[in-house]
Amino acid sequence: MLRKVRKVVIPAAGLGTRFLPATKAMPKEMLCVVDKPIIQYAVEEAVASGIEHIIIVTGRSKSSMEDHFDIAFELEATLRERGKLDLVREARKVSDLASVSYIRQKEPLGLGHAVLAARDLVGDAPFAVMLPDDLIDSPRKAALRQMIEVFERTGDPVIALLKVALKDISAYGVIKGEQDAKDPRIYVLQELVEKPKMEDAPSDLAIMGRYILTPDIFEDLATTARDKGGEIQLTNGLRALSTRRRLLGYEFEGMRYDAGQKLGFLKATVDLALQRDDLGPALREHLKSLGL
Ligand code: G1P
Repeated sequence: MLRKVRKVVIPAAGLGTRFLPATKAMPKEMLCVVDKPIIQYAVEEAVASGIEHIIIVTGRSKSSMEDHFDIAFELEATLRERGKLDLVREARKVSDLASVSYIRQKEPLGLGHAVLAARDLVGDAPFAVMLPDDLIDSPRKAALRQMIEVFERTGDPVIALLKVALKDISAYGVIKGEQDAKDPRIYVLQELVEKPKMEDAPSDLAIMGRYILTPDIFEDLATTARDKGGEIQLTNGLRALSTRRRLLGYEFEGMRYDAGQKLGFLKATVDLALQRDDLGPALREHLKSLGL
């Protein structure tokens, strides 16, 4: 069986209502953390994980994303005229990252529906899904890479997991699983439930926005019933798939920020800026001067 993961699907069709008015004319995935749009963090993690082809599922206002990952001729020409060759290289780095395709999710019918929209572009091979709101900083090894390695060893679909406080659990898909005796980061999944009430949550292990999937998931997504809100949930498709094959959960190593929420977005901005040689020392001084 083919175990090479070359493609990633990045759903980026949300309305971004939490960030209005910033997202009135711009997709939330283009909001900037330090000096890069949120979606670029996901694309860079994918490339660092060996992914060659990025499929972005867009809704409205996709043109700014397309422009971002394309070559900016006019910008480059102006920068070149001004002798700013380092900035030309910086702009080019983005478009050189990977080959990017776009597909439109015509109706906002949920995450499972967004993944299903990429079916033809994915074809008959294993693929990854990344939700750009989950910004993961893992300096040692990209979180997606960690998961791809589990998939390459086992051939089983792999879902990212993170322990979260029970009071927050209802915001997530939640699993119950049996921890692997040899590798405590791995769980064999027994239950998956999307956004349960706290008292119904089967554990404190929440699903995070990184998945390594096999193409048989598309059949499940195509037949998964819509939920109460009329959406097709990826978690429900995965539960159907789990009746036919083994699914694994993986507690990845790395710091995850919920960049889809204002507080998580701010934390990511501060932490990632503090790590930078050009910004860290001055920002640290500033934070100290606040005497918090
Ligand atoms: C989605 C998934 C959910 C998962 C979460 C991770 O929910 O449906 O299972 O736990 O991403 O961020 P959303 O945040 O899009 O509502």
